[in-house]
Amino acid sequence: MPGASRILLIIGGGIAAYKALDLIRRLRERGHSVTPVLTRAGAEFVTPLSVSALAGRKVYSDLFDLTDEAEMGHIELSRSADVIVVAPATADLIAKMAQGHADDLASTLLLATDTPVLLAPAMNVRMWQHAATQRNIATLRGDGIGFVGPNEGDMACGEHGPGRMAEVPQIVAAVEAGLADGPLTGRRILVTSGPTHEPIDPVRYLANRSSGAQGTAIARALAALGAEVVFVTGPATVPPPEGVEVIRVETAREMLAAVERALPADAAIFAAAVADWRVARESDRKMKKTGGALPHLEFAENPDILATVSALAEGRPRLVVGFAAETDDVVANATAKRARKGCDWIVANDVSAATGIMGGAENAVTIITAEGTEAWPRMGKAEVAARLVERIAQALA
Ligand code: C5P
Repeated sequence: MPGASRILLIIGGGIAAYKALDLIRRLRERGHSVTPVLTRAGAEFVTPLSVSALAGRKVYSDLFDLTDEAEMGHIELSRSADVIVVAPATADLIAKMAQGHADDLASTLLLATDTPVLLAPAMNVRMWQHAATQRNIATLRGDGIGFVGPNEGDMACGEHGPGRMAEVPQIVAAVEAGLADGPLTGRRILVTSGPTHEPIDPVRYLANRSSGAQGTAIARALAALGAEVVFVTGPATVPPPEGVEVIRVETAREMLAAVERALPADAAIFAAAVADWRVARESDRKMKKTGGALPHLEFAENPDILATVSALAEGRPRLVVGFAAETDDVVANATAKRARKGCDWIVANDVSAATGIMGGAENAVTIITAEGTEAWPRMGKAEVAARLVERIAQALA
């Protein structure tokens, strides 16, 4: 854990504002100080009294409060923190930030600051998915603003999908990861992980044995070195790491769309075991046994996400890393794969059943780069991740 930090917490107007109260407690428990700013809309959901009581200090809310200006102007307030956290970050606050508005205390602080900013978005799923919001998010990402969440799930408005504010421990982890000054601080890195599920009918799907363990370990190791990590994961069996932005998908096509939305990034690590094929026509009803006649499934090829990103003429990450899970001629196949996919490095491994690697705790990899191949001894997946991430940090330095 990094040392005690000064956190300026802006609480926007959304039902998730109640979680900001717990966030203040958890941050203080961990030794950080929290200076709260409550927007006018935020004050409709939580009271200034609860906020200041939990923070143990005055809550700021009005730009034109002369006493505050005499004590500490908004410029100073915005710069006297190690990090500014906005939780919940509403669609409106995000839009204001993207446009550079400064018409209340929160937006003025965000425009006047030179401090790292972390947003925990929270809004209705349609508002989150709206092209305007996604445009604003992309703009802010390009400006170097950090994000944690939103998560997917049931929402207070009764709908289901992405838009729920990240949980408090996730936000705490993201704040601390951002403060941890490491060799990857300021770098945005995309990681894909887990299998994909390709539907056959409403109850059946094609899948593979990937647990998501290696991709998860890589994302965790990247965050530990200070990277801002976007983790695009299929339905994995291991839980995603904390302190990273988690985007859950099911199919290869959804994974490609999520990856394209998550760019730009400094590096992209494609650890997902993406299904190469899907069923060409998914049945919208459960397929039935019909008197001994076997079903006839036609297949279609899935988009190759790694090859697509490697071939980007504009916005290609500086370092693109692919994986090659092989059962025969590992190095020869993986070397050919590196050329075919157009990525910079391939992390190759032997996934023959006898190795116990797929779904297991260990991995034995060979790294293939333009300079040649390097075989690493068999070791834990966390150790593979740590070594790989160290190399990534060197490559991006
Ligand atoms: O072609 P193959 O599946 O062996 O390639 C493995 C590498 O390509 C992995 O890095 C995997 O994440 C990526 N991949 C992808 N999209 C696909 C298939 C594989 O990104 N449709």
